[in-house]
Amino acid sequence: KKVVLAYSGGLDTSVILKWLQTTYQCEVVTFTADLGQGEELGPARDKARLLGIKEENIFIDDLREEFTRDFVFPMFRANALYEGQYLLGTSIARPLIAKRQIEIAEQVGADAVSHGATGKGNDQVRFEIGYYSLKPDVKVIAPWREWDLTSRTRLLEFAEANQIPIAKDKRGEAPFSVDANLLHSSSEGKILEEPWDEPPEIVWQRTIRPEDAPDVATEITIEFERGDAVAINGERMSPATLLTKLNELGKANGIGRLDLVENRFVGMKSRGCYETPGGTILYVAHRAIESITLDREVAHLKDSLMPKYAELIYNGFWFAPERRMIQAMVDESQKSVNGTVRLKLYKGNTIVTGRQSPDSLYSMKHVTFEDDQGAYDQFDAQGFIKLNALRLRLGAMAGRKGGAV
Ligand code: ARG
Ligand code: SIN
Repeated sequence: KKVVLAYSGGLDTSVILKWLQTTYQCEVVTFTADLGQGEELGPARDKARLLGIKEENIFIDDLREEFTRDFVFPMFRANALYEGQYLLGTSIARPLIAKRQIEIAEQVGADAVSHGATGKGNDQVRFEIGYYSLKPDVKVIAPWREWDLTSRTRLLEFAEANQIPIAKDKRGEAPFSVDANLLHSSSEGKILEEPWDEPPEIVWQRTIRPEDAPDVATEITIEFERGDAVAINGERMSPATLLTKLNELGKANGIGRLDLVENRFVGMKSRGCYETPGGTILYVAHRAIESITLDREVAHLKDSLMPKYAELIYNGFWFAPERRMIQAMVDESQKSVNGTVRLKLYKGNTIVTGRQSPDSLYSMKHVTFEDDQGAYDQFDAQGFIKLNALRLRLGAMAGRKGGAV
């Protein structure tokens, strides 16, 4: 009888709101999160009121700090990339929305939750796996999988018939679908569906063209503590403030654009255009600080589990024991990941120019090509190589030269 809806204030979720009221005769509670998508939340409140939602049933939360501190930063400790390229900007936001929706459901005594993701995508999976893992008996209503508003025209007719205000630009076909938060913007669908067609410039909303970026590089430093960025150019700031600042720096230098065809969990391939300006800088900087502070085997083991960890987040398993297990391992590895990275931001590129750490494992004394004054005995390498080569020599003696099997 009561349902908590993840409500953006846009046309689609407004139609869902009305549809829930009329189809299920239930009391709708709206939840709108500020995840740094860059939209005012006032209009969402006004619209919910206009659609008859009682004041005590309208929830609006600023989740930017929690999102960055408890979701984005833990993920960046792992250097997570899906299919080698996608920084998971949408994927990592869904579990937080699901978590907050369930908290509100418990608070207001709602037995159901609802979202505006389609039946074709990843987001439905992420929302719902999140819901079920936090409230196993919850009822999930996914209007896109249920209703008969299968075309834009019918959706608009429903909106009109129910006095839902429609923005002028929404009357025609919207050119593509956008999801945005502090970490990234993603655009998919419609004019982007032909993977051979270059995305038009209007797709890119939070970076300037690399070609238009300044001819002079912007130099910055990022300081890390336990694997998390804590300061830019020596100035300490909160996680969300820091990511916001990196987004500004990335935007001005055309950093973080990605045009990708990826494999969705539900089985189909889809083409997406992503902009992750701050995240791209953070990723490069984090790898650079790890390069001097992590033990080799720790680094390699961590890297070997990264694709699995990224896949778990992509597929919606943030609240799963195996994700927590890998997270605990990753977090343990970050204890010594402290120090400073210096970077040049230049026309779409993030170029490391220096790194230093009080916990550095880099030994100039050992690596130097000059006289190391006995730090390292080159003669030790002879036996090391010979024993590593032994089985290959035995193979070659048995007629399997060069590694033949
Ligand atoms: N393909 C991305 C993901 O699965 C983004 C999905 C949402 N984006 C959108 N424009 N509707 O994480
Ligand atoms: C959607 O289908 O709602 C957006 C795309 C996705 O979830 O993958």
